[in-house]
Amino acid sequence: ELGPFSHFMQKEIHEQPKALADTIEPILTHRFKAELFGANAEEVFSNIDSVQIIACGTSFYAGSVARYWIESIAGIPCNVDIASEYRYRDVAANPRQLIVTISQSGETLDTMEALKYAKSYGCEQTLSICNVRESAIPRASKLVFYTRAGAEIGVASTKAFTTQLIALFALTGVLAKLRGRLNDEKEAEYLDSLRHLPGSVQHALNLEPQIQRWANKFAGKEHALFLGRGVHYPIALEGALKLKEISYIHAEAYPAGELKHGPLALVDSNMPVVVISPNDNLLEKVKSNIQEVRARGGEIFAFADLDSHFGESDIVHVIRTPRHVGVLSPVVHTIPVQLLAYHAALARGTDVDKPRNLAKSVTVE
Ligand code: F6R
Repeated sequence: ELGPFSHFMQKEIHEQPKALADTIEPILTHRFKAELFGANAEEVFSNIDSVQIIACGTSFYAGSVARYWIESIAGIPCNVDIASEYRYRDVAANPRQLIVTISQSGETLDTMEALKYAKSYGCEQTLSICNVRESAIPRASKLVFYTRAGAEIGVASTKAFTTQLIALFALTGVLAKLRGRLNDEKEAEYLDSLRHLPGSVQHALNLEPQIQRWANKFAGKEHALFLGRGVHYPIALEGALKLKEISYIHAEAYPAGELKHGPLALVDSNMPVVVISPNDNLLEKVKSNIQEVRARGGEIFAFADLDSHFGESDIVHVIRTPRHVGVLSPVVHTIPVQLLAYHAALARGTDVDKPRNLAKSVTVE
């Protein structure tokens, strides 16, 4: 059942154009209509004043991307919490918050308990984004959006993550529309971006041979740093998590603007620095962060969009991702960091689909 692939993780990475197209399909059919999230979703969404996202691990990073979208596109305050933190702190929850839990499995104990905890504060407006039908978390939620990633077997989450981003983008569009912040033209533009996304993701997958060459260099390292800014900062976090999780290389992610507040001290010629460098309004800022790393002899591995001006040199290596796709760019930029982690793990000979000490579904605390 692996077909031409060596591991489930590789297969699932390559299934993303289809998983995304399947998840996008109902959005193209219904546009940004609240019913995508359930029959009574419009009423729920019309009565909320803020969004509280709760999740663990990779699902938390999907939520972290969504925060940028929800605040900038829908203009609604949005907070994102790690479930195991949320459930043990005194939260200032209010009944008008929309509680959004994100879980591939729908069975993660901390996320489930955090949902119950929010309800104990009177938060009844709950939405679950989940990949497994009728699992515990969606059953405990008023609204649900099922991602259509298909079964995910590799312990490291890949296609579940990118399809969660689609669900969250749909939520953003729906909330923006209900608040009169999405005119017909903008709606058509977003739908068009969604329609073209699987093609751009396929283009990014085609970079695999180049990324594998980089990964072989990473395999000999013990540490790596990932940098991103804005909506791509969570993609740097996701890249670092994937790398440590399956290759056991210690990796950390920082928002690039934080470099001189500490992590720059780590940089020397032995420190590979992966930079997510999309052609967006922060590119010039990212480039100056790259100069800061270069000046300390750090070796840069940048994923840069095809349409950006980006200089290569002996210590700045560049792989060209597809042309900048706009607001959905975090989805495209996820692919290279998944492939980098996969091939680094392969080169190190670790058990890619079943990394040590980890389980696919975390039903204990
Ligand atoms: C990392 C990974 C985990 C899960 C986390 C939450 O690759 O897979 O970090 O994302 O355990 O799991 P779900 O989404 O099932 O709640």
